[in-house]
Amino acid sequence: MTDHCFYDSLVDYAETNPLRLHMPGHKGKGMPMEEWNALAPLDVTELAPTGNLYGSDDWLEDSQRRWAWEWGMDSAFYCTGGSTQGLFTLFSLFTQPGDTILMDRVSHKSIHNAMALLDLHPVWLNRPWDMAQCIHKAVQPEEVERLLTEHPEATAVVLTTPTYYGILTPLEEICDICRRHGVRLLVDGAHGAHLPLVLDKKQNCLLGHNPYINCDGVTVSTHKTLPAPGQTAVVMANRVTMAEIRRASALTSTTSPSFAMMAALDKLCSCMWKIREQYRPVVEWCAEMRRRYPPVTGEWLDPCRLVFQVENGERLSKRLQDMGIYPEMEDRHHVVAILTAADTEDDVRRLARALNFYNYKDKAPYEAHLEAPPMPERTMSPRAARFAPAGKCQLERAVGRTVAEVIAPYPPGVPVVSPGEVIDKKILAYLYDLCYDKSDTVLVTKETAKQ
Ligand SMILES: Cc1ncc(COP(=O)(O)O)c(C=O)c1O
Repeated sequence: MTDHCFYDSLVDYAETNPLRLHMPGHKGKGMPMEEWNALAPLDVTELAPTGNLYGSDDWLEDSQRRWAWEWGMDSAFYCTGGSTQGLFTLFSLFTQPGDTILMDRVSHKSIHNAMALLDLHPVWLNRPWDMAQCIHKAVQPEEVERLLTEHPEATAVVLTTPTYYGILTPLEEICDICRRHGVRLLVDGAHGAHLPLVLDKKQNCLLGHNPYINCDGVTVSTHKTLPAPGQTAVVMANRVTMAEIRRASALTSTTSPSFAMMAALDKLCSCMWKIREQYRPVVEWCAEMRRRYPPVTGEWLDPCRLVFQVENGERLSKRLQDMGIYPEMEDRHHVVAILTAADTEDDVRRLARALNFYNYKDKAPYEAHLEAPPMPERTMSPRAARFAPAGKCQLERAVGRTVAEVIAPYPPGVPVVSPGEVIDKKILAYLYDLCYDKSDTVLVTKETAKQ
């Protein structure tokens, strides 16, 4: 590895005043949105001087190797299709069609889609439900052990940490359990790209503490919590070569990745130390906000996520928006705010003023006492249901029907019903509770759609 990086190779190429007889069609000269023009010269394609995401021994491979190195992992691959692409990569790398997978029920819909595409069969790993706070707690190692013993045919465990609500699942013990059972541990770390910069633990990688360091594979959405453009993510793996991770990713990703986005990932990696410094006060402000405005609590929390719990999440979110403050999401009883290295003390004060104005302290902690989401029955595999002939059906007439697509409020995008599962009366009541309407339509498999 040299100091010259992938980003430099793009700048060097642009400075040679090249006659660009290649894609993209803007030729580095200009785009319809003039804000993009400064970027256009760096937005190139696979060329000898710039590198090839699917090739080896060039700037791009060096750049990705550096990511892996800083995180203490064996290989890395740049995704321009978010962690959705990263998850598909992990499943392509570590599973075979037809495999049984121990799957966190609190999984994003991209995981449910990957299961359908790759014909994976889930055994659901349920998390304890915190009734008062209305959220799922961390995955319990004992439950992983129990299910792996019950399902010796399982080949992998797939977990999400942190969740949208900032709930972390410590992975050390679960890694050991997976290793003992000879199964892979794959992690959806879409919300955890910043964790090595903020976790207050013993250093285990160059950047700090990488909670994913011992798992087989992880994807992190750099765009969610680091200063990186939308859609960027990095998928990383252990005991896997760069060529293997590239090959797996090629199955579901574009052959024209954005070089500008990848240059941003390259630069981001070289700035991680600076960003770590910028994150330091944010962790403190966040802790102070937690003391002053008690949010959702738990044993292991993302130190930079504030999840306010109120009687009416939509009302609080609307009030904040009226004051020009836009949270990441709200649901019935929560409003989720993401703080990152890009936030300033003034930004945090502005949020505090708005919460004072709303009298948050008088309203919290609010205890909701809601039941856990019901667990639907399964009649078909995710793949069979996802690709079966299907038709639309009004929700109020859908009892007894098998769904052909995920039903998931977005965000957080965690399905209540997944393809192949049946809507029963309990599920219907739960969906109404989540503000679905009787007249909303859902896609159900054809044999159950006739009416
Ligand atoms: C838990 C989780 N996993 C995966 C994804 C997909 O990530 P991306 O949007 O980067 O494709 C999301 C998106 O919100 C998510 O919340």
